Amino acid sequence: MGKALIIGAGGVASVVVHKCVQNPDVFEEICIASRTVEKCDALKAKLDGGRTKIQTAKLDADDTQQVIDLIRKFGPDVVINVALPYQDLSIMDACLATGVHYVDTANYEPPEIPKFEYKWQWAYRERYEKAGITAILGSGFDPGVTGVFCAYAQKHYFDEIHTIDILDANGGDHGYPFATNFNPEINIREITAKGRYYENSQWVETEPLEIKRTFDFDGIGPKNIYLLYHEELESLAVNIKGVKRIRFWMTFSDNYLNHLRVLQNVGMTSIEPIEFEGKMIQPIQFLKAVLPDPATLGPRTKGKTNIGCIIQGVKDGKPLSYYVYNICDHQECYREVGSQAISYTTGVPAMIGAMLIMKGIWRKPGVYNVEEFDPDPFMEALNKYGLPWQESFSPTLLD
Ligand SMILES: NC(=O)c1ccc[n+]([C@@H]2O[C@H](COP(=O)([O-])OP(=O)(O)OC[C@H]3O[C@@H](n4cnc5c(N)ncnc54)[C@H](OP(=O)(O)O)[C@@H]3O)[C@@H](O)[C@H]2O)c1
Repeated sequence: MGKALIIGAGGVASVVVHKCVQNPDVFEEICIASRTVEKCDALKAKLDGGRTKIQTAKLDADDTQQVIDLIRKFGPDVVINVALPYQDLSIMDACLATGVHYVDTANYEPPEIPKFEYKWQWAYRERYEKAGITAILGSGFDPGVTGVFCAYAQKHYFDEIHTIDILDANGGDHGYPFATNFNPEINIREITAKGRYYENSQWVETEPLEIKRTFDFDGIGPKNIYLLYHEELESLAVNIKGVKRIRFWMTFSDNYLNHLRVLQNVGMTSIEPIEFEGKMIQPIQFLKAVLPDPATLGPRTKGKTNIGCIIQGVKDGKPLSYYVYNICDHQECYREVGSQAISYTTGVPAMIGAMLIMKGIWRKPGVYNVEEFDPDPFMEALNKYGLPWQESFSPTLLD
């Protein structure tokens, strides 16, 4: 069917590449391009020889001109951006300049401000419309599948959705005293930020990890969950009409939080540059360099993830509660694609978003979040490509 340019060669990119190669009717040719080309070459060496032709390229995606040059040379139908959120705008600019569709999994964040918002990427709407190309923002799991779950609930079960609770549980154990499951810098920036949720058309701010509950997760068991701000809250507050409250919850073990507290207290999670041996460094960048590389956690991680949405509202005048979630097993993911479940649950939906653009099913000029498309083909593809979902109409509710 066509060609995809995959930018990035980390944990998530590796899953995207595996999944594209498993789907050669759609992805006839891929180019894996990243800052460290050796990582792209290693993926090619592992997966070459099948029906999907693979090439690699060295690319600094912060440089729009380099991205434009590579797009012109390779000629993709879609760019799958699974580098870091900092590259979103330079890659979107390159897609605009070359008329190529765009998919990512995380919204833009300026490196110097730990604050993610859609405003920078939503500002491209008119230009993408005029250029006749589609950008799908946040096609990972959360954001991504969580938005599709909400759109599916809206389409099939509810007249009105009143509340959404997104629950993200990781019951995996990698055996290290402390490690992050995806890019440490992005992960720590997210957790150390203030919490925020949406209620009655307003944003309510909390101290970091101030609000805590316990929830018994199918496949994992009871876990402490903490209220965080997460980027899909912003788009769902706009796109799920009439919603009154949206919250996002994530599990953290006491051990993880103790380590994080100490690192924060000594200044290791700061993004403020400091001088070290005559060179300016960001402490969090240094921390990233000493922590285990998330891409290496796969073989060590045992247990499951469970991510889903509890949705309440009304149908035919009666109250209705609905829970839709996916359980993913770290070791099964590792056996299939050599990555743990965090990368897997992000990489599979990124491939699906790109596939739906390539097939013309999710193609409409402009810049969209996933919940703005028909959820059905995406939900079907989740079952087919390794992230089957389950439903319950009598979930335990969070107060
Ligand atoms: N929506 C979700 O559910 C979800 C969940 C998890 C992660 N994510 C997102 O997924 C993305 C990838 O995460 P990850 O865990 O795979 O991160 P990762 O392992 O750190 O990989 C990032 C990759 O991007 C490359 N890169 C960084 N800067 C670049 C640049 N300027 N030009 C070209 N390549 C560059 C890195 O190159 P080097 O190898 O040279 O460092 C690395 O290969 C992130 O944006 C993350 O926020 C989304």
